[in-house]
Amino acid sequence: MATPIKDVILKENAPVTILFDKHIEFLRDYGKDDNNFEFGMTDYLRVSGMYWGLTALELLDQTHSSPQEEIVTYIKNCQDPETGGISACLGHDPHLLHTLSGVQILAMYDRLDAIDVEAVVKYVKSLQQPDGSFTGDKWGEVDTRFSFCAVATLSLLKRLDAVDVDNAVKFVESCMNFDGGFGSRPLSESHAGLIYCCLGFLSITHRLDLVKRDVLAWWLCERQLPSGGLNGRPEKLPDVCYSWWVLSSLTILGRLHWISGEKLKKFILACQDTETGGFADRPGDVPDPYHTVFGLAALSLLGQAEIKNVNPTYCMPQHVIDSMQLSPQILR
Ligand code: FPP
Ligand code: ZN
Repeated sequence: MATPIKDVILKENAPVTILFDKHIEFLRDYGKDDNNFEFGMTDYLRVSGMYWGLTALELLDQTHSSPQEEIVTYIKNCQDPETGGISACLGHDPHLLHTLSGVQILAMYDRLDAIDVEAVVKYVKSLQQPDGSFTGDKWGEVDTRFSFCAVATLSLLKRLDAVDVDNAVKFVESCMNFDGGFGSRPLSESHAGLIYCCLGFLSITHRLDLVKRDVLAWWLCERQLPSGGLNGRPEKLPDVCYSWWVLSSLTILGRLHWISGEKLKKFILACQDTETGGFADRPGDVPDPYHTVFGLAALSLLGQAEIKNVNPTYCMPQHVIDSMQLSPQILR
């Protein structure tokens, strides 16, 4: 049965080159003004938001322009003395997503010494359930994205041995669907964001042998729409962040060439805001650091020379992964 296609039409005058200086300005200014409405409304995203902005700046070779010591102190203060987890923002409850983001930032700065690493390990371990899954925090929501956050955090800390990896793998495997994709829990529909999480998880644990490689790669390349953009599920609009979730997955599977890189690049470049800098989800929408880092990271995977190489598993600069001597599995 045919499924309806939802898509956008790229304008003739859409940008076709990377607006470097505008993006640097956009990323530096974002969140500077703490009286700003958006800043006030996004405190529940703060540490992850820093990771998006700082990774984007590093991919543009601009990390030196960020207030490194201030950021390190902020993350240190977000580590909960009771549980060891890192929260989104001072005074909030710790969460596995922000724990990963905090660890990713400190790894990029080579400042993991700033936090109590053993306490983080204890926190991650405390969230593993008897079926191998992980909850995101003490409130108990289980999701494969938290399986990824758990092993990504522990591998950056060189403490993957602290959890039951075999059981964690069994849970992720139980979330695989007939189409080769993965959802958030067993029997949940395949979703490109969660496919990235599960492939990232299997890449870190070196268990990509479990994947139905070509069935999944086919599902992923079907995400490309006539505009060149990628969606996250059938019948959804294209969105720049899915350029990352889908492209990193295809890269891990060694099937990046199954989509048209040229058309995708044209779509991503058309999502830049020519006035303020930054990338939006779709052309003409409001830009934000989330879509900016994933737009730049996807362009990096497509071989854009002026952007630093990104690692498809960790969404971190490749030179950081190399200097930490991490070798997540990639199928060639
Ligand atoms: C879409 O979510 C995205 C995902 C499900 C993936 C989220 C990935 C993580 C939390 C892991 C950390 C990521 C990195 C890069 C280190 P959505 O809720 O916006 O989905 P929707 O588009 O269907 O609404
Ligand atoms: Zn998006």
